[in-house]
Amino acid sequence: MSATIINGKEIVGSVREQIKAEVGALKENGIQPGLAVVLVGDDPASAVYVRNKAKSCDEVGIYSEVYRLPAETPQDELLELIGKLNADPKINGILVQLPLPKHIDEDTVIDAINVNKDVDCFHPINVGNLMIGKNSFLPCTPAGVIEVLKRTGTEIAGKHAVVIGRSNIVGKPMAMLLLRENATVTVCHSRTANMEEVAKQADILVVAIGRGKMINRNYVKPGAVVIDVGMNRMPDGKLAGDVDFDDVLEVAGAVTPVPGCVGPMTITMLLQNTLEAARRANA
Ligand code: GUN
Repeated sequence: MSATIINGKEIVGSVREQIKAEVGALKENGIQPGLAVVLVGDDPASAVYVRNKAKSCDEVGIYSEVYRLPAETPQDELLELIGKLNADPKINGILVQLPLPKHIDEDTVIDAINVNKDVDCFHPINVGNLMIGKNSFLPCTPAGVIEVLKRTGTEIAGKHAVVIGRSNIVGKPMAMLLLRENATVTVCHSRTANMEEVAKQADILVVAIGRGKMINRNYVKPGAVVIDVGMNRMPDGKLAGDVDFDDVLEVAGAVTPVPGCVGPMTITMLLQNTLEAARRANA
């Protein structure tokens, strides 16, 4: 058996078309959504992500500003910039690219972002609202994964979803969104015993561990839908996900490619949140 390779390009393209049309309709009412992206330091991967975010804004008609600050920027200076962006009516969404340099406290920075402009859904109030099912922004990567599942016609309710990884950015909010969709959810992490056995029970397996090609066929139930959130630079210089794609392809029902699915879908959800923030600001 060979799995279906999920067509990330097509899914991303159709969601972005929809967003572009909605941005166009808002513009006719004199409203243009705006996003500010802040990058501190010169991490090359972060620089690529930030460039892609700004380019994607352009493509759907969202106004964007990118702030590239030197690695040694004092925390107070960053907080001052966030204060200005919080007060700027052109800016509906603020994204501070993580990780930040060591001398800057990430929690302090996230706490400083206006809750209504927190398009990453990292602010504790938005994370809390997500937990209790109140209307907040949806965290971009997990929301992108749910969108991929829905658009591939994958049933979520009543299914067993296993999430491998428990980060604040992906694993934990992913579990929450799957729960919202009425899946039965298990979270695996570095201290999980018998991870292969647990993962093999999954109808839907979401992998976000940050270790290239770690998940092979031994972790996958025949026919399972496997979503790979990872993006790793392998020793041969090539990019690979957390899933051993070629191996898993032989047992899974469907697999996402890396690159080309969850990455661009994450940015798409950022565009969606920025649009939503602009709607709320002008309601
Ligand atoms: N670093 C890695 N992923 C993300 C993300 O989704 N948002 C931000 N702000 N930083 C990140």
